[in-house]
Amino acid sequence: MTQHRAVKGMNDVLPDDVGRWQRVEQAFARTMSLHGYREVRTPFVEPTPLFVRAIGETTDVVEKEMYSFVHRDDALTLRPEGTAGAARAYIEHGVAARETVTRWWYAGPMFRAERPQRGRYRQFHQVGAEVFGDEGPGCDAEIIDMLVGFLAGLQIPGVKVLVNSIGGAEARAAYREALVRYLTPKAAELSPDSQRRIATNPLRILDSKDERDRAALMDAPTIHDHLAAGDRDHFAKLREYLDALGTPYAVEARLVRGLDYYTRTLFEIVGAPEKLGAGSTLVGGGRYDSMVADLGGTPTPAIGFAAGLERLLIASEIAVPARGVDAVVAPLGGAATGPGLRLARDLRREGIRCEIDTRGSSLKSQLRRANALGARVVLILGDEELAQGRVQVKDLEAHTQDSMAIEHALRVVLDRLVAASRSEQP
Ligand code: HAM
Repeated sequence: MTQHRAVKGMNDVLPDDVGRWQRVEQAFARTMSLHGYREVRTPFVEPTPLFVRAIGETTDVVEKEMYSFVHRDDALTLRPEGTAGAARAYIEHGVAARETVTRWWYAGPMFRAERPQRGRYRQFHQVGAEVFGDEGPGCDAEIIDMLVGFLAGLQIPGVKVLVNSIGGAEARAAYREALVRYLTPKAAELSPDSQRRIATNPLRILDSKDERDRAALMDAPTIHDHLAAGDRDHFAKLREYLDALGTPYAVEARLVRGLDYYTRTLFEIVGAPEKLGAGSTLVGGGRYDSMVADLGGTPTPAIGFAAGLERLLIASEIAVPARGVDAVVAPLGGAATGPGLRLARDLRREGIRCEIDTRGSSLKSQLRRANALGARVVLILGDEELAQGRVQVKDLEAHTQDSMAIEHALRVVLDRLVAASRSEQP
């Protein structure tokens, strides 16, 4: 028989781990709502040309990593990131006409055919946000500071913020020329990919991890010599605001990032190097002031970021206790099943998480399961109890067992659970 396996680089998240996922997702949703962002949900599949146009034809994502296919006559792609789809939705629904500043957040799976390794998957999950309509550096600083607070809440050690500015189209064109001038005589020393990129996308060479490229780039010029006055001013203000917030950061003049849509502010946040390896980015983001216009919308400045959920979970120290149920109803013998099901339903109506075993298992095995589920009480229904309309309430923590009328049991169980949850609170 063929053993079916998940697609390489696409992982199951089993219930024992889902608690930590939910904790991070909830922390993110709370952070976003505190900052006035609203959740948006866009499709997992978009027309391929959207990503090619928004992300850039010569980026790794578009050249090598997209899951693209043709269905009937439509060229489609599983979204490799969330920004292009958000901008498409922003334009398509005419949001600019209704509000001057739009703050959206999202969470969900993204797909990139990368080589899988720890912290890098083919289906991965991002939490991210996009702000449309605010061009000021105050917005950039607020986002970076918000992220630092969010990561601190997740107890991620060694967080570092790297910022840079890559200016507007003019600055990048001038820098591109300077970089080509610098790299052309060194072409033979570069990796084959980078040799090709001198002609297609020289800025991407700055992002290469290849040792040959890194060595050749040692004395390369930086974008900072080419920034326009407005770009420089924006970047200076961003740093001023970060200083005012007391948010530590480092200016990384060679930071470029792998997507072509960025303008001016760029940032990356790294953390937990022992767990993730140095250089493994938790959060990446930046401005993309021309994307909305490039995609056919009214020119609208924009900035956003995304964090890899799997990476946040590897980096985070938070532990979430595995939660099962509060109570187990243990009917002993077939006659007890009906009354047991009714009792279980009544408990759930009171908000008590409850499981019942209707397979006719022994008391011993039902108690074992109750322990494994972390239940506080077991309600045992045997023949004798049934005949008297009673139930045995076994408290697994207090090590007590009392017989009581079924109507009474509900109140008793509820009281014990409320008391237990109060004593658990810090
Ligand atoms: P990105 O840098 O491509 O940016 O991805 C953001 C984050 O997603 C990364 O820092 C990393 O944590 C996570 N990530 C990316 N690829 C993978 C992967 N294969 N496996 C696991 N995690 C991964 C963007 O996606 C932009 N859309 C961010 C943005 C929003 N910029 C402006 N607005």
